[in-house]
Amino acid sequence: MPAFNMKGRDFITTRDFTREELDFILDLSSQLKSMFYAGMRKSLREILDGRNIALLFKKPSTRTRNSFQIAASRLGAFSVYMRPDELQLARGEPIIDTANVLDRYYDALVIRTFEQSEVEEYARYMKNPVINALTDEEHPCQVMADLLTIREKKGRLDGLRMVYTGDIWNVCHSLITVAPVFGIDLIIAAPRGYEPLPEIWKYGQEKASRNGTRLEIIHDIKEAVRGADIIYANTWWSMGKPEMDKEKRKEDFKPFTVTAEIMNQAKEDAIFMHCLPAYRGNEMTTEVIEGRWSVVYDQAENRLWTEAAIMAALIP
Ligand code: CP
Ligand code: NVA
Repeated sequence: MPAFNMKGRDFITTRDFTREELDFILDLSSQLKSMFYAGMRKSLREILDGRNIALLFKKPSTRTRNSFQIAASRLGAFSVYMRPDELQLARGEPIIDTANVLDRYYDALVIRTFEQSEVEEYARYMKNPVINALTDEEHPCQVMADLLTIREKKGRLDGLRMVYTGDIWNVCHSLITVAPVFGIDLIIAAPRGYEPLPEIWKYGQEKASRNGTRLEIIHDIKEAVRGADIIYANTWWSMGKPEMDKEKRKEDFKPFTVTAEIMNQAKEDAIFMHCLPAYRGNEMTTEVIEGRWSVVYDQAENRLWTEAAIMAALIP
């Protein structure tokens, strides 16, 4: 199997991986997907036969939770989904004890939480791989599925132009980390006053200048979308953000709604992407997300295949 030996490594940020390693995961995703559709379910089940995967989620999830559990099952592994309020964590049991104990039972931990440092803390105590299923800072599994979807739809990654609009948060940060590495120009269309984390922006800028790609923030969506191959929208208000910010964000982001008129200013064959969940009437109109441009369900399906590949590559 793997041409790259990544066994035992964590998947906390794509910044820990080279383009070649990420390409390898994307190739493996396509291979696993093809095997499934060719009816090779039995061969797939041998890949992680007998392994056990823990999922610990502090925030709600439809796609990530289900795609990981189904990917595990298709590869022959057993998975258990846990909310922290069901564990002794809720009574103050420290991460060091929880992590060490889970490491004795499971072959990998998939974790969704707030602080990136919490994921890193689990990884410090666990010998087996820890996989980031979304933090406030990053959503690396999401962007792997996004890259696979773009590659399937456009036949390449290098030289494409993506416009992102929505909360400058986990998904946006992870796109900033991968776009320049894969030769994609990334234009962020956002109101003034919304900026990425400086550390992530610096990383993206360094990669963009080394690889000769564009990475910039533009405050006018009409200007941003000209010549775009991909328009990527996300919620204006991420999980865990204070309720009181909601109205202000709605006001600030209102001029950035992706409408059919906006899509028509991009390239003729431009695609519309969204990590989901989507809020019709906010970040895009119903006509866009349900229209001819939209690839959002293929994108959601690809969560399963890229996560399957991440687990197959990393879990010993
Ligand atoms: N895109 C994504 O991570 O969706 P969920 O929050 O439903 O997992
Ligand atoms: N930025 C969104 C993404 C959800 C997948 C959030 O954190 O809520």
